[in-house]
Amino acid sequence: MILKALEVENYRNIPAARFEPGRELTVICGKNGQGKTNLLEAVWLLTGGKSFRGAKDAELIRENAGYAVAEGETQGFGKESRIRVFVGGQPGARKARTVRVNGVDYGRAANAAGTFTAVVFDPGHLSLVKGSPEGRRRFLDAALCQLYPGYVTLLRRYSRLVTQKNALLKSYWQTPDANGLLDVFDEKLAESGAAVSAKRQEYLALIEPEITGTYRDIASGSETLAIQYEPSFEPEKGLAPVLRESRARDIAAGFCTAGPHREDFSISIDGRAAKVFASQGQQRSAVLSLKLAEAAGAQKITGEHPVMLLDDVLSELDETRQSYLLSRMEHRQTIVTACDPDLFRRTSGRVYRMEGGILHAL
Ligand SMILES: Nc1ncnc2c1ncn2[C@@H]1O[C@H](COP(=O)(O)OP(=O)(O)OP(=O)(O)O)[C@@H](O)[C@H]1O
Ligand SMILES: [Mg+2]
Repeated sequence: MILKALEVENYRNIPAARFEPGRELTVICGKNGQGKTNLLEAVWLLTGGKSFRGAKDAELIRENAGYAVAEGETQGFGKESRIRVFVGGQPGARKARTVRVNGVDYGRAANAAGTFTAVVFDPGHLSLVKGSPEGRRRFLDAALCQLYPGYVTLLRRYSRLVTQKNALLKSYWQTPDANGLLDVFDEKLAESGAAVSAKRQEYLALIEPEITGTYRDIASGSETLAIQYEPSFEPEKGLAPVLRESRARDIAAGFCTAGPHREDFSISIDGRAAKVFASQGQQRSAVLSLKLAEAAGAQKITGEHPVMLLDDVLSELDETRQSYLLSRMEHRQTIVTACDPDLFRRTSGRVYRMEGGILHAL
């Protein structure tokens, strides 16, 4: 996948800019608060996804402007595409993101998903190691949703069942034959839950060699990272017995306490839990390994390597780790932001400078 050009208008602090990344490494440098991440976020919008910083659509529009636009020329899956993401709406109404691909109105931006693919690393993703299991489940689910359209339906069905069962558990004592209804839910949950869990495990197994291999390379072979999925049930027995056994606990808690919506995967470095024991640089290296493996996995499945968007990626890493990452960036289209352009002096990357929302090609 290649981003040939991006034009933005009224995007956060960027009044207007044209950005033409190289086919390999492109660096956006600049001081703090100048708009580097904003530009990277505008590239990300072309995937159809929402802001990776969790921003609301209205926050993407430049202050005092009525709308924002990010329009990209991309090349991938054997075709060239022009993706125009528009953020706007009636004055006073809620803002929304809509998209046109090659002039055709697709409606909501998410409908264009799959035309342009990218993998983003932003410092907030460090929560993949440090944070709650929810973030790790989201990592797997988001990748699976992009790779297998059927997974979206499956996950939605499972999540809806959990929500409905939670509502029933809350009103358990007021509901006639609540146990009979719970039996019905459990039967459906056991089926879709097992499918969700199986898909996640299959995906993690696919990218696991890439994660551990990349970590080994980042650490120059001196440390070993291991990943272990922690399913909520034994595959031979299925999810049904677990749901049955957790019934009393569920009723007491008022929500579903067991199942794939509570699953997790553990990350350890040299046998110790990364969440608790890893240093800043080790945690960052682990997240980067996951992200690089996510991109490699997408290539394995779709044949197209996503564009890498790496926000402030090299800080906290020692020189050896930085050198390894820089060498990785030379093979794929990668767009990185950095305060210190010196880090990239040894590479042949194209360099831009962002200053007060104005983009300068260097
Ligand atoms: N909707 C908006 N309208 C105008 N300005 C905005 C809007 N949203 C964000 N900004 C401004 O954009 C500026 C640049 O943000 P950005 O996160 O891109 O900086 P950065 O160059 O990545 O900095 P750092 O090196 O600290 O990460 C911020 O100062 C912020 O106030
Ligand atoms: Mg930034």
